[in-house]
Amino acid sequence: MLTCYRGHIISPTSAGKWIEFRQGAMVVSEGKILDIGDWQDIQSSLSANDKVIDYDKNLIVPGLIDLHVHLVQMAAAGKWGVTLLDWLNDYIFPAEIKFKKHDHAKRLAKWFFLELAKNGTTLACVLNTIHQEATDIAFESAQSMGNRVIMGQNLMDVNSPDELTVPCNEALKQTEELCKKWHGADNNRILYAFTPRFAPTCSMQLLSGAADLKLKYPGTYIHTHLAENLAELELVKKIFPQNRSYVDVYKSAGLLGKNSLFAHSIYLDEKDILELSQSGSAIAHCPSSNFFLKSGVFPIERINKANIAVGLGSDVAAGVELSIFKAMKDAVYIQPSQWISPKECFYFATLGAARAVNLDHLIGSLEHGKDADFIVLDPALKSSITDDLLDHQLDDILSGLVYLGDDRIVSATYVRGKCIYEQEKFETLQKTDYFSKAELRRH
Ligand code: GUN
Ligand code: ZN
Repeated sequence: MLTCYRGHIISPTSAGKWIEFRQGAMVVSEGKILDIGDWQDIQSSLSANDKVIDYDKNLIVPGLIDLHVHLVQMAAAGKWGVTLLDWLNDYIFPAEIKFKKHDHAKRLAKWFFLELAKNGTTLACVLNTIHQEATDIAFESAQSMGNRVIMGQNLMDVNSPDELTVPCNEALKQTEELCKKWHGADNNRILYAFTPRFAPTCSMQLLSGAADLKLKYPGTYIHTHLAENLAELELVKKIFPQNRSYVDVYKSAGLLGKNSLFAHSIYLDEKDILELSQSGSAIAHCPSSNFFLKSGVFPIERINKANIAVGLGSDVAAGVELSIFKAMKDAVYIQPSQWISPKECFYFATLGAARAVNLDHLIGSLEHGKDADFIVLDPALKSSITDDLLDHQLDDILSGLVYLGDDRIVSATYVRGKCIYEQEKFETLQKTDYFSKAELRRH
């Protein structure tokens, strides 16, 4: 049986052009897009058995992609007053230590994946904790909630609190076990990333061990932090005096390359940018986080010129909200003198991000043959958005979404044609299935 979704469809395409069908229809079979176009043209191809879900005038756009987010920091958002290294020590490491408790790990994972879907995020590249069991629980949660994830166990073997330090060989053994268990699960909805936290908390042996594992298991990823903050850069220089730069530390460990994703990447010289570009590495730009921790400004023009694939990350909890709408807006706001067009913002949040993780043949846009990962948006659900936004021309609609969009306008989220969130049902779910915040405080 086919399902046909009717609505106002907007999407970037692999050919570079955007499509817009104001009275559109998208036909989905077994999670794949079979056809997309004007309802008038598609209507005749449907048979009486086919199901039609009519979203009327609401928008249907590709699901948003969050290229960098920390599940384990959900309950630590909004801890202000310090920059990166103190923030990690004062607030974040204590929050991550709590993940040795399995019930805490379960609650946070469930909250996290539901909130992602509520924010219209269909794929997230997730950083976890050093605890193997808690990471396994996070995978179980992603599996049952239906989100698409690229995720792994956090790796730290030096310069970390005792409770978050796992000796190199043990950490590599644990992460390999999880990779064997989860990489490719549910027909590749779940993919594995080896995630050394960042150079200051990893030995060279651990960094290169992670790189070796990525090579050993095709289709896996490296996901880590890079050059986010000036004090962090000084620390890296002190720990790795023989290396030319932060990028060079990762290069000597073998971490650069296709399927390698580096969050932040603010402080890079021209040689660093060339190394990232030539190796096919990608960047998760996290503007909301860079604002919050006063880390600096992402050099977007230089990175674009080098043709490095870039997408956006919420970087919760340094980004305080799990929202790629907010990341789109902040990506423009944080640039002191440059505008980024709404189309470019949406590209970073969808097809550009899919390209960054080499999944653009499957997701990132609504096109024939791709997976049906999409969200339904009703801008009128947010009271401050003009009722007639969807009557405007395409660029103005996208601009409205970039500057005014948030989770209030997301009415449904689909991954591979399966609905994983519906705003209408959310309230009942909150009362029954969703854990209460008071319960969280006790853990
Ligand atoms: N660098 C190393 N760890 C972290 C983290 O948890 N958040 C951010 N923003 N940067 C980091
Ligand atoms: Zn981060």
